[in-house]
Amino acid sequence: MNENKEKQMDKITSLAKRRGFVFPGSDIYGGLKGTWDLGPLGVALNNRIKSEWWKMFVDGREDMYGLDAAILMNERVWEASGHTGAGFSDPLVEDTKTGERFRADHLLKDSGIEAEGLSAAEMDALIVDNNVKSPAGNVLSKVKDFNLMFETAVGAEGKYKSYLRPETAQGIFVNFKNVVDTMAPKLPFGIAQIGKAFRNEIAPREWLFRVREFEQMEIEYFVKEADWEAEYEKMLHDLRAWHRHLGLSDANIREYEVPANDLAHYSKRTIDFEYNYPGKGFDELAGFAYRTDHDLKSHEEASGVKMRYTPVEGAPFIPHVLEPSFGVGRALTAVLCEAYTEDTIGESDRIYLKLPKHLAPYRVAVSPLLKNKPQLVEKARAVFTMLKAEFGNVAFDDNGNVGKRYRRQDEIGTPYCVVIDFETLGEEDETLKNTVTVRDRDTGEQQRVPIAELASYLK
Ligand code: GAP
Repeated sequence: MNENKEKQMDKITSLAKRRGFVFPGSDIYGGLKGTWDLGPLGVALNNRIKSEWWKMFVDGREDMYGLDAAILMNERVWEASGHTGAGFSDPLVEDTKTGERFRADHLLKDSGIEAEGLSAAEMDALIVDNNVKSPAGNVLSKVKDFNLMFETAVGAEGKYKSYLRPETAQGIFVNFKNVVDTMAPKLPFGIAQIGKAFRNEIAPREWLFRVREFEQMEIEYFVKEADWEAEYEKMLHDLRAWHRHLGLSDANIREYEVPANDLAHYSKRTIDFEYNYPGKGFDELAGFAYRTDHDLKSHEEASGVKMRYTPVEGAPFIPHVLEPSFGVGRALTAVLCEAYTEDTIGESDRIYLKLPKHLAPYRVAVSPLLKNKPQLVEKARAVFTMLKAEFGNVAFDDNGNVGKRYRRQDEIGTPYCVVIDFETLGEEDETLKNTVTVRDRDTGEQQRVPIAELASYLK
């Protein structure tokens, strides 16, 4: 992969740390592998991604119902869904000398051998036949299936086994009957949920890309079996619109049809939306699976509770399901990668985040030209308070000189900077009284805008 692109990812992750987007988890104790904490600007961006998603897929439609299920669930859920079995395991190998653990399929891939969809025994044979060694050059152990779920014990006596959910989807399936009984939805309809998921990944890596604790935004869209292909096409269209709404360019998105031998244990068709991450190339951003009636059927069999939909005419039946599944962290990574821009403005080089306005942590930053002039500060505070009431996400920035503030706000993607200067006070030209300078992040151009028109201008 091209070196510049690799460096670009380093620049993005260092900006993210320097500017309060993403910190390593448990930082002062040396971190905890596979965990990251969102800083003040990271949580703002993350929340915006989630609220835009909810607006588009739940509030913006009449066929979707929201849900927020518990993370801890009865262990029988995971038996019925197949997650306690081999279907939710990754192939683990150990360096026999250092004890370091790796994913066998990744080591094989690094040696130019494709192992997607193969069993542990098949990968074992490939490792032996091709004399594949650990990155340190040592012999590898036998490949074994390693289940990715975090197990935990519930209650003071620890009598009940449970797991931190590895996907939000099962919370939806388990509530299918509750939603049908309370909301009387018409088929096709979907249930959407945003929440944390946990996977004990063998090798967490590449920043937020593969972590052990992450957030998902998932929809289970229930359809008649006969309609699944037509509904799949319609939903594909909506998923493309979502990625455009995140500001991701079509050129950086690829749709990958997952081959039959690599489909998840529940899926008959899956398209992965891949993003062209700098230094890494195209890799998964979100998935869109046709899960048939696998989950509802399994839960009906295991629980003894009927998971059926009753049509106006005809007998109750188990609907089939389409599942768009998005990782919030991967969306946030893609949004930052897409937005990261280096250019020259005036005489100087700068870095800026060309974030879509609806995602930027701050909509606008307000500052007085000079912070030691009380009238400027007072007026700036008044404008700040007015805009804060309107937008909420408004920054007051009086650190350093105006040039430095512009650079700083550019770097965190603030679309506009408003400056209150002596003209605002009407000291030089009465006609400019109560107007402010509004600077545009992308062009650096400045306009004078009356304070009374500011809120609508910034919208
Ligand atoms: N319910 C289906 C499901 O969970 P998945 O492909 O395993 O499917 C869906 O996960 C999405 O969740 C992925 O496309 C990715 O965005 C995100 N995801 C999965 N594992 C992840 C991990 N270890 N770290 C970060 N994101 C992850």
